[in-house]
Amino acid sequence: MRFLLREAKKVDGLFLFWPGGPTPICVVANPAAAKAVLADHRRYPKGDDYRDKFGAVFGDGLVTSNGPAHARARRVLGRYFTRAALEAKEAAIAAAFDATAAEIFADVGSSYVDVDVQEFFHLATLRAFCAAMLSEDIYAWRLPGMDAPGAVARHVAREVSFGSNVVGEHMLYNIPMSPLLPRVRRLARSAATVRREVFAPLLARRRAAVAAGTAPDDCLTALVVASDADDGGAGGGDAAVMDQLVTLIGAGHDTSAYFCCYASLSLARCQRDARAESHHWFWGTPRTHRNSRSAVKSNSYPAVSRDRSV
Ligand code: HEM
Repeated sequence: MRFLLREAKKVDGLFLFWPGGPTPICVVANPAAAKAVLADHRRYPKGDDYRDKFGAVFGDGLVTSNGPAHARARRVLGRYFTRAALEAKEAAIAAAFDATAAEIFADVGSSYVDVDVQEFFHLATLRAFCAAMLSEDIYAWRLPGMDAPGAVARHVAREVSFGSNVVGEHMLYNIPMSPLLPRVRRLARSAATVRREVFAPLLARRRAAVAAGTAPDDCLTALVVASDADDGGAGGGDAAVMDQLVTLIGAGHDTSAYFCCYASLSLARCQRDARAESHHWFWGTPRTHRNSRSAVKSNSYPAVSRDRSV
């Protein structure tokens, strides 16, 4: 990692990296070039290694598809990710964060309590995505042996993080996603269980709501309606809809959770620096290292729990 960060700062932020095997990876750490690569799908189609590794979990969802399948999925889903559409979901997203904060930070009072902010953000982003984009309460989902409210959310959060690490390592070191590897088998098993036990009944419920004219206007309804239109109303396109669901939950939740963690850390550091600066300004002495650390400990977690705009 240190090597990658050092090279990224050199010259134009473009360099080759041999993680193993005969094929190098071209690292693009230059914002303008990264934007061009990510935005111009015709000139830079997704590579086979990327599609194979992510595809082991995401199937042919938006992250892995190329060409017409990708363009079709963007047409169906794109309108739910505009600024206006997301602003319309603001209340649902805030409610999901508030409910999760009430659960995770229940024990935080005036004294210092050790809280895992990562757990909070993983659950909150997952809950927010399901509420805003699927009109679903993930705390109501059930899997065999997981009957407590929120147990499935915790399981999904854990497996998505595990999957991110596995796919990331396999991409970086060019390791095939072979079912001979126990970690790949675990990932495939988790995805298959959620597809069978949660997504299949969810799709059946949504198809019934679409037929009754009571379906909400969200990503899930759009995917169900589009897949039925594609197969002439036969309703057999469930596998494709499930690929998109696994993709959206997998691609959207871990990334957003870590982004929120990093934003909180930056805010906490900012608060610590401001305190140290004001201490110096008032008393003319720098804060000691010990004092600065305790400022972070006693203030950062409550700041996260109370500041909804995080
Ligand atoms: C801070 C949070 C996020 C970060 C840092 C992030 C990062 C990225 C990056 C770097 C890509 C390009 C991947 C590539 O082509 O190699 C990408 C694509 C994608 N992301 Fe995110 N993402 C975030 C949040 C989300 C959310 C919330 C969702 C959906 C709920 C999402 C869904 C997707 C999808 C579907 C693609 C593929 C788009 C396409 O190929 O047209 N992401 N994301």
